[in-house]
Amino acid sequence: MRILITGGAGFIGQHVAVMLASEHELVAVDSLNAQVHQHAEAAVQRFPGQVVIADVSQASTWDALPGFDVVVHLAAETGTAQSMYEAGRYRAVNVEGTRLAAAAAASWGAALVALSSRAVYGEGRYECRRHGTRFGARCCPQAEAAPSREEDPHRPVSVYGETKSEAEAILAEYAAAIPVTVLRPQNVVGFGQALHNPYTGVLAAFLARLREGRPLSVYGDGSATRDFVHVDDVARLITWCIDHPGRLGSLRVLNCGTGERTSLTDLARFAAAAAPVASAPVEYVDVGRAGDIEHAVASLEGLRSAGAPLPLMSSEQAVADFIGRSWGLPGADSEAWDVALRELRQRGLTS
Ligand SMILES: NC(=O)c1ccc[n+]([C@@H]2O[C@H](COP(=O)([O-])OP(=O)(O)OC[C@H]3O[C@@H](n4cnc5c(N)ncnc54)[C@H](O)[C@@H]3O)[C@@H](O)[C@H]2O)c1
Ligand SMILES: [Zn+2]
Repeated sequence: MRILITGGAGFIGQHVAVMLASEHELVAVDSLNAQVHQHAEAAVQRFPGQVVIADVSQASTWDALPGFDVVVHLAAETGTAQSMYEAGRYRAVNVEGTRLAAAAAASWGAALVALSSRAVYGEGRYECRRHGTRFGARCCPQAEAAPSREEDPHRPVSVYGETKSEAEAILAEYAAAIPVTVLRPQNVVGFGQALHNPYTGVLAAFLARLREGRPLSVYGDGSATRDFVHVDDVARLITWCIDHPGRLGSLRVLNCGTGERTSLTDLARFAAAAAPVASAPVEYVDVGRAGDIEHAVASLEGLRSAGAPLPLMSSEQAVADFIGRSWGLPGADSEAWDVALRELRQRGLTS
């Protein structure tokens, strides 16, 4: 098949492309966003197919493309905290870009697989003996965070999450015309994730600090939890969605995570254990960032009932693989994350 991958030069796109390249003809559309790509030329070289350098939020980009059998829509602006002060750019790329991608896929009769995010859930699901199920906030201290399910309501707390939620609503409108699958990845980790971009990824910050022998810096008290899923498990799920397009008529939505809850303190421990240096202490920085949430973990029930592949790697294995394979790669100094945090402070986006 002829497959178009928007954002194909990026982290997840490159892994998907490697899995698809032997059986399919691939074209990437990618703007080679400078914040993500320090070495844009190398990203283009790595992609096993043609790379069209263009912006998905421009109609002219889509007018210039031939038809495809499948569209994998990955292109997006991805920094949660940055989205709070760059809202216009985030909306243009994530919402308008998705609208144009869906319209083009429909005009070609192509199946569409689009990446949303767990950010649509915001603070997610809480279960409480006294108050029952609540979404988006803890009702009382007894409430326990529970895995988010695909049917849960959207409660985004960042502009990034809002743009993903709006994009999903647009995708639902196209599900009558073409098969559309939306995936909601949790935190994706692995080789090739941006090591220069201080606007995403706590793990890249840990890597930089480990290499410099600085203590690992955790924002908050370390009890916040996330679900870290390996990029190859994400790519395998995307490939499965291409091979098994959903039914016409309704949007197919699937979570994408390990279903395991990892605290930031555990994450620091996993990262330090995987590093080829003496283990580093953890320092807790008493700061909250606008758009951040306390707990996130995926329910895998939706994947199970769809017969979709479950992740092969645990979060600890995924983190170890990332640290081991990224150790010798160039990346930003840890100072870059300190600068990004100062920038948020100056904008009044911290508490
Ligand atoms: N990595 C994660 O943890 C994670 C989690 C949840 C969802 N997602 C989603 O997965 C998708 C892929 O993310 P990723 O981690 O590979 O990020 P990435 O930044 O590595 O890749 C995104 C790619 O899109 C390109 N791009 C950005 N704006 C563009 C535009 N206007 N036109 C064309 N190309 C553009 C970038 O140059 C980059 O190559 C995104 O939609 C993201 O929101 C990622
Ligand atoms: Zn309660």
